[in-house]
Amino acid sequence: MNDYLATLRDMRDKALRGGGAERVEQLHAKGKLTARERLALLLDEGSFQELGALATHNCVDFGMAEQRYPGDGVVTGFGKINGRRIAIFAQDFTVLGGSFSEVQSRKICRIQDLALESGIPLIGLNDSGGARIQEGVRSLAAYGEVFTRNVLASGVIPQISVILGPCAGGAVYSPALTDFIIMSRKSSFMFITGPEVIKSVTGENVSFEDLGGTLVHNARSGVAHFLADDEQAALMLVKVLLSYLPQNNTEDPPQVTPYDLPDRMNEALNTIVPDRDDMPYDMHEVISAIFDRDSFLEVHPYYARNAIVGFARMDGYSVGIVANQPEHLAGVLDINSSDKIARFVRLCDAFNIPVVTFVDCPGYLPGTDQEYAGVIRHGAKVIYAYCESTVPKISIVTRKAIGGAYIAMSSKQMRSDLAFAWPTAQIAVMGADGAVRILRRRELAKSKDPAAAEAAFIAEYREKFFNPYRAADMGQIDEVIEPKETRPRLIRALEVLRTKVQQNPPKKHGLMPV
Ligand code: HXC
Repeated sequence: MNDYLATLRDMRDKALRGGGAERVEQLHAKGKLTARERLALLLDEGSFQELGALATHNCVDFGMAEQRYPGDGVVTGFGKINGRRIAIFAQDFTVLGGSFSEVQSRKICRIQDLALESGIPLIGLNDSGGARIQEGVRSLAAYGEVFTRNVLASGVIPQISVILGPCAGGAVYSPALTDFIIMSRKSSFMFITGPEVIKSVTGENVSFEDLGGTLVHNARSGVAHFLADDEQAALMLVKVLLSYLPQNNTEDPPQVTPYDLPDRMNEALNTIVPDRDDMPYDMHEVISAIFDRDSFLEVHPYYARNAIVGFARMDGYSVGIVANQPEHLAGVLDINSSDKIARFVRLCDAFNIPVVTFVDCPGYLPGTDQEYAGVIRHGAKVIYAYCESTVPKISIVTRKAIGGAYIAMSSKQMRSDLAFAWPTAQIAVMGADGAVRILRRRELAKSKDPAAAEAAFIAEYREKFFNPYRAADMGQIDEVIEPKETRPRLIRALEVLRTKVQQNPPKKHGLMPV
C-alpha cells in the first residue's frame, strides 16, 4: 500500500512543480506568478479541487517524448470565491510556454462541461503561446472544442477571462468569446499574428506592446474590458466582478446587505447640469451621487469614453448602468460607443440585471467617417439590444435627448418600463440649428436680416421643444423629477419592477446587426 501511495504522491508532487524550478524562477524574474500561485490568490483557502493533474500529452514529434509534464501546462478544477462555487483553469507558462495541446483542450472542455451542467461561472487564467506547434493541426482542432463550449455557455453562465501573459494566435478567441476580459498591465498582450509574422507579411515594424498590449486592447480595440495594474489586482477584480453577477441565467445576482440610506438625497445634483447647454459635466459624478456609496464598477472605462457602462448597487441590489458622458465628445453616440452600450445591455439582460440609463446625448455622430464605417449598422445594435431585453429598464433624461438619441437610449417606445426626466431635459426631434435650416430655408433666403430671423426661430424652437414638458404631456416621460430625488425614486421603481415578467416571441435566435 505504501508503494502505491508513494507513487501517487510522487506524481502529484511532479504536477505541482510544473515546468521545474528553473522555469518558475524565470517566470518570477519577469514579475509573473505561477498558475498555482494565482489560484491560491484567487480562490477561498482550501477550496480548490483539482481535476486532470496527471494528464500528459502523447506527442512524440520534435523531441516531445522527452518533454512530458503532468498536467500538460494547465491546472483545471473547481473552487470557491467568497463562498460561491466556480470552475477554473489556469495555464502554466512554465510548461512549454503554456502552449495549447490536445490534452489541455480535453482538460479545459471537461470543466467547461461541468460548469455549464452545474450552472456555475467559468474563469480562465490565460498565459499561453498559442497552439502547441509540435502537435500541428491537432492543437488547432482542439481550440474548436473549447470555442464551441464557450459559445454554448454564453448567456447561461458568466465567463471571465484574465490575461496574465501572452495570449497569442488561437489563444485569443476563447477569451474573445467570453463575457469579460481583464488584462494585467505588466505582463499581458493579445494578438492573432505576432510582430515577426506581421513584419514578414506587411513589412510593418511593431512591438508586442504597441500591437497587443493592455492600452491597445483597453482603449483602442475594445477587446479588453478591464485593465489591472498587476496580477494581484487582476485577480482581485475577478472577485469584485463576480459579486455583481448571478451564478447562471436562472438566478438573480446576490444582494449585499444595504449599507446606504435608500432615501438619501443629494442637493448637489440639483445644480450639476450647467446652465449653458454646451458646457460639459462629468456623468461619473451623477452616478456616484445616486447609487450605493462606492459601488460603481465601470466596465470598458478607457474605450469609447463618450459612453459609460458598468455595474453598481441600489439598496444592495445589482444594477447595470448605461450613460452618455457629456465630458467626452459631448456624449455623442458613435460606432464604438454603440457597440459598447449594446454589448453591455445584452449582458445585463442575459444575467437578470436591471438597466438604468442616463441620457444626455445630442444624437448620432455626423460625418462620412462614421457613415462609411457603418454607423447605421452599429447604431442599430443599441436599438436592438434595448428592444430585445426583458429585464427592468428605467431611463432618466438629464439634459439632451435629441433625435436618434432620444429614441435609441432606452425610450419607452422601445420597452423601457419607466422614463424620468430632470427639469433640465431637452427632448426634441433634432437640434435647433438644423431645424431652422430645413423649416425656414425659404424665409431666411428672402429675409432682409437673415441672422436675426434665424436667431428668432432658434429661440422659438428652443422655447417650445428644449424642455421635458412636451414629452411628459404626451406620456413619453412618466415623471419630471428634481435631480436630488433620483436615488429614492429609482430605488422604489426598481423595487416595483423586481417581479417584472416579459417574454419575447419564441425563435431560434434573432438576427442582431453585427
Ligand atoms: C510550443 C511554445 C509555443 C507554442 C512558446 N513555446 N510558444 N511551444 N508551441 N506555440 C515555448 C518556447 O519554445 C519556449 O520553450 C517556451 O515556450 C517559452 O517561450 P519563450 O519564447 O522563451 O518565451 P518568451 O520570450 O516570453 O515569449 C513568449 C511568446 C513566444 C511571445 C509567446 O514564445 C512566441 O511568440 N510564441 C509563439 C506565438 C505564436 O505565434 N503562436 C501562434 C501559434 S499558431 P523553450 O523550451 O525553448 O524554453 C496558433 C494558430 C492560430 O495559435 C489559430 C487562429 C484561430
